[in-house]
Amino acid sequence: MIEPPGPRYAVQMINIEKYFGLVCALKNVTFDVGRNEIVGLIGDNGAGKSTLVKILTGVFPPTNGQMVVAGRQVNFKTYNVKQAHAHGVETVYQDRSLGEKQVLWRNFFVGREILRPFGFIDVKKEKAIADEIMVNTIGFRGKGITADSKVSKLSGGERQGVAIGRAMHFEAELIILDEPTVALSLKEVRKVLNFVHKIKEDGKACMYISHDIQDVYEISDRFIIMDRGEIVASIAKQDITLKALDDFLLEYAHGLKDKEA
Ligand SMILES: Nc1ncnc2c1ncn2[C@@H]1O[C@H](COP(=O)(O)OP(=O)(O)OP(=O)(O)O)[C@@H](O)[C@H]1O
Ligand SMILES: [Mg+2]
Repeated sequence: MIEPPGPRYAVQMINIEKYFGLVCALKNVTFDVGRNEIVGLIGDNGAGKSTLVKILTGVFPPTNGQMVVAGRQVNFKTYNVKQAHAHGVETVYQDRSLGEKQVLWRNFFVGREILRPFGFIDVKKEKAIADEIMVNTIGFRGKGITADSKVSKLSGGERQGVAIGRAMHFEAELIILDEPTVALSLKEVRKVLNFVHKIKEDGKACMYISHDIQDVYEISDRFIIMDRGEIVASIAKQDITLKALDDFLLEYAHGLKDKEA
């Protein structure tokens, strides 16, 4: 296969370390995510997954280490959430990602409004684009949801879909989902998983964090496993069955890997 032009990786982290006071939350974290790769990040509570995501998305800098996003070296002195957006890194949180009282089309463009020459918001254009995203990017057809629907009327899965659709519209190269299915019904979870399949089809990258191994297994190309702040394995899906992955994780959960060392 001929490689398309442009950077090969959506992100590379090199020897990232994060201390909270004396607590070491991340140690020697080195990994990459390919530009069209879906990576499942797995690990027990407190393993450091969300901390890693926060560094990636510009919430806070690491104590040490380097990061390259879409081929560009990140300067942590200036890197923040806004710059992460500019670099094509977007994240979707369970609740906070969408303004409840807003109508959908407004919500799509918060902070990135399309303006007409005199500085007024171009409502017509924003609505048309919101409609287009809903039908083509996230596949809402009919079902009574329009660009004028209130966010509060949407189900959990639909909200995740809107947030993902927004990230896709603004051409996110890497979409990070940190437990996007917590508190969703099975049907809603299915929607979120389908959105992730769509990210893959669209040629973009995704980092997916969930405690549901079956879900992670379905959508990922590769699994990165964390244990107490360190990356302990990176396994391609083709090299492991769901059962074997589950057993592997159980061994860590029971501390068997410690005894081996
Ligand atoms: N702001 C903070 N201040 C101090 N310690 C923190 C802070 N954020 C995280 N930690 C600690 O860093 C470690 C990693 O936490 P993190 O939230 O990254 O884990 P996680 O893998 O996302 O876990 P979970 O699966 O429960 O979401 C934990 O020991 C946690 O207590
Ligand atoms: Mg977490």
